[in-house]
Amino acid sequence: MKRFNIGFIGCGFAAQLHVEAYKRIPGFEAKMYGACSADLHQTQQFVQANGFEKVFGSVEELLADPQVDIVDIIVPPSAHIPLVKQAMESGKHVICEKPLNGYFGSGNDDRMVMYEAVCSELEALKQFLAGRKEKLFYAENYIYAPSVVKIRQMIEATGEKFLLLKGEEAHSGSHAPHAALWSANGGGCLIRQGCHPLSALLYLKQVEAKRRQEEIRVTSVLCDASQVTVGLPSNERGSILSNPVDVEDWSEAILTFSDGTKAVISSGDMIVGGVRNKIEAYTSNACYEGRIAPNDAFLCYHTDASKLTDVYMTEKVETKTGWQHVFLCEEEMRGYVGELEDFLRCVDTGKEPESGFPLAYETMKVLYAAYASAGSNSRFYVE
Ligand SMILES: NC(=O)c1ccc[n+]([C@@H]2O[C@H](COP(=O)([O-])OP(=O)(O)OC[C@H]3O[C@@H](n4cnc5c(N)ncnc54)[C@H](O)[C@@H]3O)[C@@H](O)[C@H]2O)c1
Repeated sequence: MKRFNIGFIGCGFAAQLHVEAYKRIPGFEAKMYGACSADLHQTQQFVQANGFEKVFGSVEELLADPQVDIVDIIVPPSAHIPLVKQAMESGKHVICEKPLNGYFGSGNDDRMVMYEAVCSELEALKQFLAGRKEKLFYAENYIYAPSVVKIRQMIEATGEKFLLLKGEEAHSGSHAPHAALWSANGGGCLIRQGCHPLSALLYLKQVEAKRRQEEIRVTSVLCDASQVTVGLPSNERGSILSNPVDVEDWSEAILTFSDGTKAVISSGDMIVGGVRNKIEAYTSNACYEGRIAPNDAFLCYHTDASKLTDVYMTEKVETKTGWQHVFLCEEEMRGYVGELEDFLRCVDTGKEPESGFPLAYETMKVLYAAYASAGSNSRFYVE
């Protein structure tokens, strides 16, 4: 079995998701080789808990190790682009978490300036990537969620046109202080959560375009991105964890494609009931509903959950009593396993990834077009 040594940059929440997925990849041995982060103590604990071989004290140390085949960048978004370039210049293939880039100023800055800054950074990265032997993979797990893969297969078979696509990712918010700040995330729930269904819908539309031999692109975006909990007194925030400073906690974006069809992307940091990850698609002959979470694979009911503290049900659910949609095979169902399998196969065979730079580019451009629309209270026309 072909083996690849993986070097992690970042040892936090999402790094653990990657570890669990690497363990389950069929056909390859993904060796958790070494890791570094901004916090040596955290790196040591992460390495020990997950059976890595090496603790690296710095990014430079990790990149200098010739044993590292693939670098997995799982750090906050503002550090993505510099690390992607640094790792590729060291001769490594790179997996980068979402969102690929962003504008990390204040949420009150001019949205048009944000859009232009993000687009020009993407153009510069495109030049940087041209002709390189090292590959860049965009870790958008939705592309590999079995329900999205199934919609892809069906549309490839029928050749039908998506008339309407809908996607949602929402939950009751992150309590991490940095989630409240534009300077750390490049926006609020739209970029942190909405980027997932957005990429999936853009991807499916391109699958359709390829099958029908058409050129289809996003021509305009109409978006509202606001703080809907702003008027709630602190004693009425209930189970909502987010506390936005200069970012939105709710957004709704409508995309218009060049063939006149539509996509709607919903995101929220104020929806209780556990994480909601959903994709819908409608053609003239079919409806598709991909309920990634919650799904109905396994339901349970408890009147008393006091002894279930250590039993995982699903991400961010506020209670374990009553009927619960327990998330089974989460690494597979959310697409993490398929994603990392595709990336290793690409390194092995030279094939292009389903989720690579072109998809990341389009996602980031549309996200900031959405912010520009929300900022001007008007439809934003994408060139
Ligand atoms: N695909 C998904 O489902 C998913 C879920 C959560 C987070 N993410 C993404 O993963 C990334 C990390 O998020 P997280 O929730 O794990 O954050 P986290 O705060 O839990 O962990 C971040 C890690 O990065 C390290 N770090 C920070 N800056 C660094 C730097 N300059 N150099 C080296 N290490 C650095 C920190 O020390 C820490 O180990 C983000 O881009 C986020 O959007 C993806």
